[in-house]
Amino acid sequence: MTVTVLGISGSPHRRGNTETLLDSFLEGAKDAGAVVEKVVLKDLDYHACRGCNACHRTGECVVQDDAITLFDKVLAADCIAIASPIYTMGITAELKGFIDRGQYLWARKFVLKTLFFTDEHIRSHKGIFISTAGQNWDHVFDGAFPMITAIFNGTGFEYYDNIIANNMDEYRGIKNHPTAMKEAYNKGQEVVRVIGKIRNESN
Ligand SMILES: Cc1cc2nc3c(=O)[nH]c(=O)nc-3n(C[C@H](O)[C@H](O)[C@H](O)COP(=O)(O)O)c2cc1C
Repeated sequence: MTVTVLGISGSPHRRGNTETLLDSFLEGAKDAGAVVEKVVLKDLDYHACRGCNACHRTGECVVQDDAITLFDKVLAADCIAIASPIYTMGITAELKGFIDRGQYLWARKFVLKTLFFTDEHIRSHKGIFISTAGQNWDHVFDGAFPMITAIFNGTGFEYYDNIIANNMDEYRGIKNHPTAMKEAYNKGQEVVRVIGKIRNESN
């Protein structure tokens, strides 16, 4: 069965450093035989969570917009690659707004207890975080990791790896980075093969 890979670009800057790095990852995944799709959050029509807590009773979000359609795609994918540049030491507003909208899945898991991912499901579903940052600080991505962990946990994906590149200000663009583009391509190939292997073992 074909491995499906969904790339979500959270950068408002089209074809910038982060989306370019995501593209390299998706190219690697495609070359390894996966069916890949890229969704650009900036092009979607969705709103921030209202905090109405209606989902705690129903398990559904009262706002039926593009965020819900995208969560359906997330839940159907074998691998998700979530990409965001670092904005003010964290992820972009576009991505945070989307992640918050997954609160109805949190409600299903922890309030209503109607959603459960088996260990086997989690092991065969991999999440990758892709990010770029301007500064050359080792800790520049630290603010983003907990939010990425939250969406992977909430949607049943094992946090497989990060593809991160800092110091973009000095490199003047991801294409001048010595290793990141190749690393992303290789990681795309690798993760598809790993998922394929896990599936073969369990069949
Ligand atoms: C609003 C805004 C805030 C930013 N904040 C940070 C930051 O806190 N730390 C950092 O290292 N870079 C920061 N940057 C730089 C971007 O992370 C960096 O240029 C990134 O590679 C941009 O990716 P993109 O081309 O996909 O937009 C910021 C850029 C913008 C536009």
